Amino acid sequence: MAFNKMLLSGPMKRRLLLSFLCLLSLCLLDGWLTSNQGLLPVNVLRNSSSSPTVTVLLWHWPFNTSLSLKGDVCWDLYRIPHCKLVDRRSFFSSADVVVFHNKELIRGHQKLPVDFPRPPGQRWAWMSLEAPVHNGNLRRFAHVFNMTISYRRDADVTVPYGELLPKEADGRVTEDVSLNKSSLICWVVSNYRRRHKRSKVYKELKATVPVKVYGRWTKTPLPSEALLPTISRCYFYLAFENSLSKDYITEKLWRNAYLGRAVPVVLGPQLSDYRDVAPPNSFIHVDQFTSVGEIGKYLQSLAEDKKRYTDYFKWKLKWRVKLHTDWRERLCKICPQYNRLPQQKVYSDLEAWVNAKNT
Ligand SMILES: *[C@@H]1O[C@H](CO)[C@@H](O)[C@H](O)[C@H]1NC(C)=O
Ligand SMILES: *[C@@H]1O[C@H](CO)[C@@H](O)[C@H](O)[C@H]1NC(C)=O
Ligand SMILES: *[C@@H]1O[C@H](CO)[C@@H](O)[C@H](O)[C@H]1NC(C)=O
Ligand SMILES: *[C@@H]1O[C@H](CO)[C@@H](O)[C@H](O)[C@H]1NC(C)=O
Repeated sequence: MAFNKMLLSGPMKRRLLLSFLCLLSLCLLDGWLTSNQGLLPVNVLRNSSSSPTVTVLLWHWPFNTSLSLKGDVCWDLYRIPHCKLVDRRSFFSSADVVVFHNKELIRGHQKLPVDFPRPPGQRWAWMSLEAPVHNGNLRRFAHVFNMTISYRRDADVTVPYGELLPKEADGRVTEDVSLNKSSLICWVVSNYRRRHKRSKVYKELKATVPVKVYGRWTKTPLPSEALLPTISRCYFYLAFENSLSKDYITEKLWRNAYLGRAVPVVLGPQLSDYRDVAPPNSFIHVDQFTSVGEIGKYLQSLAEDKKRYTDYFKWKLKWRVKLHTDWRERLCKICPQYNRLPQQKVYSDLEAWVNAKNT
């Protein structure tokens, strides 16, 4: 498309002006089309093969660990087209989105480029996968960011720790749930704090049923290759989050329990958050019981009833677990979302947004 050619060959200033004008006209046209539904198919403009490339600049790598951005990474690794991921700051003036990972900002290891004028139309994105309590004081970022990248489902770009994708029919009709269990309930915990709600639930639970504990807290750490095999020998796995906040469901559910083939007993966001992202009868939520004693009784009876227990694995016939661990994949996810972002958006109170309670 001509627009692409101009982008590549024109001198810088002309390019910026042009891309700005093009974006503007696209937006206007798009607005016109959507307000005149039926005259023209709106998706003409959204045809991925004709949409201009989105340039995403990562200002600094999360946790100081950089990954290769050689080639067209979003396409090569994730089949996401028209998405240019860069980490060289010289792209600042031409980037559509500049991404800032929160941790380094709040620790003062990195700074926002507030001394440079922000190119018109450029969006600054705030990115964090931490629960609110670990994000620090965000009041200083009022009126700075245009978008959020978080595990939250109401973020502009949602990057969950994991998710379930529909399984392609592969001829396999049954999921093998051979039971080779030696423990009723297992918990893996490194960071034990008495004040955590999960610690209180654990203590009450182990007063009624046996709970096997691994991890740094009990000085029985599991090497990563032993984690899933160990969990697979437990009927139930306590997927207890250390922070109870909206949508905060981590690899404790997606990887440890689901891939470890133990039924997850979850403690984290409210039941409805789990129901929205995980199939029924694939987990047991602590809030489904009136007391911890009831949970213990329920788990014990379930373990003694093979049919009812294995029903908790039926979801595997339809769903497969997809873990998200690579920052590049999270960043590439910006591009398919880019054209759906509101034209103008500013997080005037990021602190309030981050700390929003369950709705
Ligand atoms: C949409 O993309 C396809 C290729 O994927 C192309 O063949 C087609 O012409 C495009 N349509 C429009 C209207 O641009
Ligand atoms: C990040 O890594 C660089 C180079 O390895 C080092 O100089 C810098 O101190 C590190 N920063 C932090 C915050 O760890
Ligand atoms: C069952 O688990 C034990 C360890 O608890 C292991 O040694 C054995 O190989 C397992 N058997 C099967 C059939 O997986
Ligand atoms: C992004 O936020 C800045 C700072 O508040 C604002 O001036 C700018 O208009 C916003 N841009 C978009 C595209 O929303």
